[in-house]
Amino acid sequence: MYKFLYSLLHYLAGGSVEQQEMKKQAADKAVQYIEDGMTIGLGTGSTVEFAIKKIGEMVKTGLHIEGVPTSLKTKRFATELQIPLTELDDRTEIDITIDGADEVDSNLNLIKGGGGALTREKIIAYHSKKVIIIVDETKIVKGLGCDCALPVEVTRFAWAATKKTLEKLGCTAELRKIMDEAFITDNQNYIIDCEFGKIADPETLEKDINNIPGVLENGLFIDLVDEVIVGSKQGMMTLERQNIVQ
Ligand code: A5P
Repeated sequence: MYKFLYSLLHYLAGGSVEQQEMKKQAADKAVQYIEDGMTIGLGTGSTVEFAIKKIGEMVKTGLHIEGVPTSLKTKRFATELQIPLTELDDRTEIDITIDGADEVDSNLNLIKGGGGALTREKIIAYHSKKVIIIVDETKIVKGLGCDCALPVEVTRFAWAATKKTLEKLGCTAELRKIMDEAFITDNQNYIIDCEFGKIADPETLEKDINNIPGVLENGLFIDLVDEVIVGSKQGMMTLERQNIVQ
């Protein structure tokens, strides 16, 4: 419970001034990959908002790109900034997706979904030629699940039964609520936050969770990321998939 509340409060607050600076550092680096004519997946969350703001400025000064938002929140934000938008269904592939994460491990696997957008984020990441994740140093963990709960998007129908089945996988599960009301995703579903503690085998768990009827998607992002840009107090650091020996 406390892990989820902590994540939620932190998510809403966007973090300390120092953390904001680290997020901006990572975002500024990520947008340097953008070239004229590209289709860009626009992630969700406080870190990627720095990148979207920057893309808005680049568009104003002549950059031609189209963005594919991963949430209604991002869609509204990008629209305010007059970034031209398109849908994944109108494109065969996305050139680059820039998104944030709640946890990143040494294999560049992630937990995402603090903002509840995990299903759309995973679909967009899956269809992207390059996925760049931007985080501040607090998101780098020794094992996924250590600091935050794993969000799982489930149908509203029989959600309590789905929750019980999730608990059989070894977690404490809780329906996400905002001010006593169930949180509703952009896809009109619920989120169940699952506290597993350190997840020993994220690849298997991702599949096991998605095999449960009623589960749409879970926040484990396995082998989807090409590069993680980390803003830190010591400066910026880039972790690349090609350097990972598995
Ligand atoms: C949204 O559903 C999430 O996956 C976010 O990408 C993740 O929670 C990171 O958010 P912050 O950049 O706000 O920490």
